[in-house]
Amino acid sequence: MTTAIEFQHVKKTFNDQTVIPDLNLTIDQGELFVLVGTSGSGKTTSLKMINRLEPLSGGKILVNGTDATAVGVRDLRWQMGYVLQQIALFPTMTVAQNIAVIPEMKGTPKKEINQTIDELLDEVGLAPAEYRDRMPSELSGGEQQRIGILRAIAAQPQIVLMDEPFSALDPLSRQQLQELVLRLHARYHNTIVFVTHDMNEALKLGNRIGIMRHGQLLQVDSPAELAQHPVNDFVRDFFSASRAKNVYDIYVGRVGLVQGYLDAKPDVTAGKIQTFDRQATLRTAFTALADHDYIAVTEDNNVVGYLDRQRIMAYLSQHEEV
Ligand SMILES: Nc1ncnc2c1ncn2[C@@H]1O[C@H](COP(=O)(O)OP(=O)(O)OP(=O)(O)O)[C@@H](O)[C@H]1O
Ligand SMILES: [Mg+2]
Repeated sequence: MTTAIEFQHVKKTFNDQTVIPDLNLTIDQGELFVLVGTSGSGKTTSLKMINRLEPLSGGKILVNGTDATAVGVRDLRWQMGYVLQQIALFPTMTVAQNIAVIPEMKGTPKKEINQTIDELLDEVGLAPAEYRDRMPSELSGGEQQRIGILRAIAAQPQIVLMDEPFSALDPLSRQQLQELVLRLHARYHNTIVFVTHDMNEALKLGNRIGIMRHGQLLQVDSPAELAQHPVNDFVRDFFSASRAKNVYDIYVGRVGLVQGYLDAKPDVTAGKIQTFDRQATLRTAFTALADHDYIAVTEDNNVVGYLDRQRIMAYLSQHEEV
């Protein structure tokens, strides 16, 4: 594994107040890393230090093995996309022009840019013919957010920093955009650092999750490890999956908004599926999904349906309040 971002004894003070005392963290290339924590815990500050929007008060951050301060700010930011909570599109530019900004600065041929724009718009379900030439003021909040994400990734940056990009959206748009992030990540294999205060969002997206409080990382682990071995009560409480009852509950979702069980047997080898009785807890199931792609839910030894991690997360994100 090659390292994309490394925090080494990073310290940050604002007006003599230490908000981050000593942060150490390594994020691998191609990882979708989620930083989750309460308000004021230092998530945004940590993210901003990566692309030097905030200077460090101590320690250093390596990007692709090089001290970020040894690289020109412009060069550093060129290899990074940045998505904010309130995405500010350029108001006097069309959708297409907004997406084209960075690729144009990088000198990508026009034809290639145009192709990318159409591809990306298709990817997020906005018909290019209809949306290309619209102005930001003619888009809904969720649509603007989609364009903001496309703008950040159009130039295929190696690293994408996302700071609570969906917190202002309704649950459905939010879920769609979470799925978009997963798809884009699977397609481009870039390194994503995603900040949220929503544990369900973290669990749905993260390959690894870092839980932050008072400028410190309490635990950095895979979702399954966090579920199984929370280091303390704070992490345990933050891990809302513990409040869900059992795998059968998700059956209810079938008639509601959630996708619920998969009816057909997934097309994977037997070893990738673990069987659980309907009484099994979500936590147990979730843990099993660290080594298995699916679980088969049984009732009186008959399989009633199949679940994967996405489906459990979809359920949790709609039924659990953090
Ligand atoms: N420019 C600043 N000047 C002084 N203090 C600041 C500044 N920016 C952030 N802080 C303080 O640093 C701490 C961490 O802030 P930060 O924005 O990183 O938190 P966060 O985890 O992103 O919170 P939220 O979930 O509310 O966005 C907070 O106590 C905040 O008040
Ligand atoms: Mg913040």
